[in-house]
Formats: sequence, structure tokens, C-alpha cells
Amino acid sequence: MAYKWSDDLLTGNMQIDTEHKELIKAINDLLEACSKGKGRAELEKTVKFLSSYTKTHFAHEEALQMKYSYPDYNNHKKYHKHFVEQVESIHKKLLAEGSSIVLVGEINSKVGNWIINHIKREDVKVAQHIKSKSK
Ligand SMILES: [Fe+2]
Repeated sequence: MAYKWSDDLLTGNMQIDTEHKELIKAINDLLEACSKGKGRAELEKTVKFLSSYTKTHFAHEEALQMKYSYPDYNNHKKYHKHFVEQVESIHKKLLAEGSSIVLVGEINSKVGNWIINHIKREDVKVAQHIKSKSK
């Protein structure tokens, strides 16, 4: 089932929100391909996209946090690092074993759910901090 973008995922920071939408779209595209029986073929494209785009996106978020002296920067950076490792481990499995429905499932459970929870729990706090500092 696809992830639905809803307003409780909006952080209020335009750059961050735009990039989050791209991430969720990539996962939804994969899930849609799955529903048409084309998930395995689409997996490689999705994993490649995620492994480069998450790094770019996290670098943007972390730069913003530095700029606005976000107090929880160190922990937030750790969450990002852990996530990048998860994506890399899926990427490695993909290269070693080839595409499989199991890996599609891992993208869904480990990547999709993580992004949604991370936005709601952490990125919203970052955006609130930036907003309060920008006043
Ligand atoms: Fe984040």
C-alpha cells in the first residue's frame, strides 16, 4: 500500500518538504510497480535513487541545522547515518543476490516506515527550531 502524503508530514520548511516528497514518491513508485508485478525490475532503480538522494537530502538538512545551531544536531546526524547504513546494506544485498520480493519488502518496512516516522518525530522539530530562529 502506498504512503500517503498528509499535512502532518509538512515541516513548514519548503526545501525539506520538497525533498521529503521526492523520497516518498520514489517508494510509492516502487510499490505501484509491485502491484503491477514489476517490483523486482523497479527495485534497482529505486535503491540507486535512494542511496544517492538520501545523502544529498541529509546533507541539506544537516547544513540547515548547523546554520541555525539546532541543539539536537548530533543525535539527528546519528539517525541519518544509521539510515544510510540500512540503505547501503539493502544495496549490497541487491548487488550480491539480485532483485527479490524480500528486498522490496525491506525497502517498504525499513525505508518507507523509517522516513515517515523520522519526519514526524524529528524533522518537524528541526523545522520548528529554524522557524523560531528566523523570526
Ligand atoms: Fe532528518
